[in-house]
Amino acid sequence: MGKKLKVLYNKKTILKRVKDLAQQISKDYPSGELILVGVLKGGFIFLADLVRALIIPVHIDFVRLASYGASTHSSGKVKILKDLETSITGKDVIIVEDIIDTGLTLEFLKQELFKRRPRSLKICALLDKKSRRKVEIKVDYVGITMEKNYFVVGYGLDFSEQYRHLPEIFFLDP
Ligand code: PRP
Repeated sequence: MGKKLKVLYNKKTILKRVKDLAQQISKDYPSGELILVGVLKGGFIFLADLVRALIIPVHIDFVRLASYGASTHSSGKVKILKDLETSITGKDVIIVEDIIDTGLTLEFLKQELFKRRPRSLKICALLDKKSRRKVEIKVDYVGITMEKNYFVVGYGLDFSEQYRHLPEIFFLDP
């Protein structure tokens, strides 16, 4: 039997928050010389909607990361499966993530990208599961702060590669 899906954030809520974030980013980078770094796979739909709501031109690149070690996410060991194809040295960069949970993935990515000496480096996340944080990390642009520790799927997020295509965000009701 499949698990039950219950809507947590509907299309209207998601798109309103995406639009707000895009407005803020457009205002903060008026010159438009910005590189958005999408984190695959989960962030692909958020990034696609975000860039279409911006009123500044941007460059887009992607990384793909993977947790490894004994207990995947909690081990904090992350490696790069696919690296950027663009140099970010001297550039303004925003990492675009679908969700921040423990913060370990972003902590790693931030440190990696800092080594390449960007002019600035910020983080934009659609969902922030604050209560689950293991490392302190500053999230500059947050779409929605999740109060509860739901396991969420849809809008790019998966459960064993299922449900990424769904247009709304659901929580899994076991
Ligand atoms: C998710 C999400 C973040 C990470 C957050 O990716 O997209 O990259 O987990 O977790 P953390 O804050 O605890 O490090 P996931 O590993 O599920 O891969 P996917 O995006 O390919 O689904």
